[in-house]
Amino acid sequence: MRLLITGVSGFIGSSIAKKLIQEGYEIIGIDSFLDNYPKKIKENNIRELLKNKRFNFIEGNILSLNIGKILDQVDGVFHQSAIPGVRASWGINFNQYTEHNVNGTQVLLEASKNKEIRKFVNASSSSVYGDVNELPISETTPTLPISPYGVTKLAGENLANLYFKGYCIPTISLRYFTVYGPRQRPDMAFHKIITAIILGREIEIYGNGEQTRDFTFIDDAVEANLKAFLNGKDGEVYNVGGGSRVKLNQAIRIIEEISGKKAKLKYVDSHKGDAKHTYADISKGKKDFGYSPEIDIYEGLKRQFEWLNDNLDIYR
Ligand code: UGA
Repeated sequence: MRLLITGVSGFIGSSIAKKLIQEGYEIIGIDSFLDNYPKKIKENNIRELLKNKRFNFIEGNILSLNIGKILDQVDGVFHQSAIPGVRASWGINFNQYTEHNVNGTQVLLEASKNKEIRKFVNASSSSVYGDVNELPISETTPTLPISPYGVTKLAGENLANLYFKGYCIPTISLRYFTVYGPRQRPDMAFHKIITAIILGREIEIYGNGEQTRDFTFIDDAVEANLKAFLNGKDGEVYNVGGGSRVKLNQAIRIIEEISGKKAKLKYVDSHKGDAKHTYADISKGKKDFGYSPEIDIYEGLKRQFEWLNDNLDIYR
């Protein structure tokens, strides 16, 4: 079976590719190396994959490639390409978010009509919920994004649902909750905090650090993709959380314990668009496709710390 992964050189895309190759699938991976962070980091994410004969890489953008021809050759899609990041989505560059997260998704869905696609797994985000009063958040919780990024991810989800209803494309959207681990994007909290601790630098904490997140280890997010591909219900959305709720300050204490060093923290104003708390009810994914996250925050941070400690040169 051959599968398409868009955004294959990103954090989550490259991790899904690695797992699917291990499982024996053939992969067509596409990526246009969007400049949200340096190309050399993304190239490094797929360096090992490129050595594998079952991994075919196409450099290009969904919006300009002959995507229909690529879709003729695959049995399933993992749509991971996007401009990510909640905080950076404010301001004059919003057109990039709509271009890639909305238009890119629509073009891929449109081209998927009348193809032999077994499943189209679409990457969505917990940011579609915004600030929620009642936790945990289930898939029936109203979606009211508080960041422009969240608005585009919700639009992508809605498009996936429309193409399921209108054209029977078997779409599923996975709402990722703050994914972390080896190869995490360099703009994300744990990457920045671990790097700062290793280098003895100061790190800015947005707000008082008492915000909570349902942090999801990358291997669990990858497992959710594979399981949803195999057994998820078409036309549905699923939360993908890590199984527990942790304060940012608590996570920092764990990183200090793992590293044996004290973090130099500078508490600054909280960011517009940042949800105060997230905590996923993951029972729907558990029921439909057996999703059950295995890596707790301590083990996950240990793995991310060790990996980044060994690979920090890539990011400097
Ligand atoms: C993350 C991803 O960046 C989004 O792409 C994804 O859609 C989203 O998760 C999601 O769950 O939907 P975020 O939760 O902001 O967004 O992830 P982090 O960057 O790891 O931030 C976690 C917390 O640390 C936030 O409260 C943030 O304000 C804080 N933070 C982040 C800092 O205090 N300092 C920093 O330098 C970076």
